[in-house]
Amino acid sequence: MAFDLKETITARQGENYDLHHHHVNRTLVKVLGTIGFDKVYARAEGCYLYDMDGRDYLDFLSGYGVYNMGRNHPVIRKAIEDVLEMDLPNMVQMDCALLSGLLAEKVVAITPPHLDACFFANSGTEAVEGAMKFARASTGRTRILSMSGSYHGLSYGSLSATQNDHFQEGFGPLLPGVEKVQFNDLTDLEAKLATGDVAAFIAEPVQGKGVHIPDDHYFPAAQDLCRKYGALFIADEVQTGLGRTGKLFGFQHWDLEPDIITMAKALSGGYVPCAAIVTRRKIYQGVFSRLDRCVVHSTTFGRNNLAMAAGLAAIQVIEDEKLIENSAKMGQKLIDGLAALASKHELIKEVRGKGCMLAIEFQQPKSLKLKMAWKAIHAVDKGLFAQMVVSSLLDKHRILSHVAGHNMDVVKLLPPLTIGEKEVERCIRAFDEVLADVTKFPGPMWEFGTNLVKTALSQRKQKQPVGV
Ligand SMILES: Cc1ncc(COP(=O)(O)O)c(C=O)c1O
Repeated sequence: MAFDLKETITARQGENYDLHHHHVNRTLVKVLGTIGFDKVYARAEGCYLYDMDGRDYLDFLSGYGVYNMGRNHPVIRKAIEDVLEMDLPNMVQMDCALLSGLLAEKVVAITPPHLDACFFANSGTEAVEGAMKFARASTGRTRILSMSGSYHGLSYGSLSATQNDHFQEGFGPLLPGVEKVQFNDLTDLEAKLATGDVAAFIAEPVQGKGVHIPDDHYFPAAQDLCRKYGALFIADEVQTGLGRTGKLFGFQHWDLEPDIITMAKALSGGYVPCAAIVTRRKIYQGVFSRLDRCVVHSTTFGRNNLAMAAGLAAIQVIEDEKLIENSAKMGQKLIDGLAALASKHELIKEVRGKGCMLAIEFQQPKSLKLKMAWKAIHAVDKGLFAQMVVSSLLDKHRILSHVAGHNMDVVKLLPPLTIGEKEVERCIRAFDEVLADVTKFPGPMWEFGTNLVKTALSQRKQKQPVGV
């Protein structure tokens, strides 16, 4: 029988979770079932996902910040179709292909003028790995600093820079020479830079986990300190880049001049993996320093035509559709609208963020009954309350969001940058209703919370090492 993808999907749609239970990550399947996220999405367009019955879901997760231009954008899709239709020679490797040259030209054009050289990779973690290698090779130094609470990816170099016990636990020993500096603490940074052997300080302009932003004076001063002690400053723009925070790049909120920028996620509009490192030519040549080192850092799929074409189209879409302006405007409306809910919902502690990267943090309520319920749930897991909110947003309002990190009372929103007033209003209305529901104790939301607690406790009882 000839291969027919459409037929296969039609015949087997709905078997998703079974297949994953048997052959992929069954722990994730269990979690998705427990939190009510086990939906079968059948179609996607713009800022909406659709299930098998055609119900729309507002996608305020955007594939973890991939779909800045909305899902299945027709311009990006056309670029990919054109590559396929033209039968272009792809990944010849021992040549210089046109599309990677064009995307490099474009990426360099949209970054600050002092950055003029580009390296392509396939994922955020790979871009971070590359940036760390570039920093070591070009400075001849070994130490790398990253901030507490940071997230830079999960392969060994980037995991070592991801200063988060949850992700590091069980995987050590990590890369030597990668050290933590305290978030927002210039004294700590200077003390660690002052020894003069730091290759680079890497930071996210807005931290993805928890959506934390240092004080306004922090990054300009941190950059000055890097210059003073000869360390490179790497801006990890994997999530904040390409309009997410209401500027093309997050570091532009403070007019910074990073020595290296990493980007990925939205770079290819969500169709194919694509990542880039952009830096000064001098740093670049510090890696590819001799003829026999011309491919000393490389990756087979890095400059593949589909990613390059999608990247060119994606950047054009950001410009043509004024998505940076829209991200700033709609993001601010969301922040203002959600912050205004604090006057009637004491549970809201803070709404923070930049552009379309924002978070709502909750706090312990004052009323006695709710306070007890809050404490009981936090005694088991500090992230369960935020999960109750996220699950209710999906279940009752068909809005997909996520908890901003482990052990925190923070819900994170990462909508596509294409959202309009309608989506903003739907989200604010939904939060209003969910926060009203949660004050009903006993009530369905706390019942759901109790189930989460039971599952968490039973999992802990079963927790044993596997395979021995
Ligand atoms: C700032 C940052 N750096 C790196 C990464 C890793 O990217 P990837 O998941 O594509 O490896 C992420 C992913 O969320 C990120 O937010």
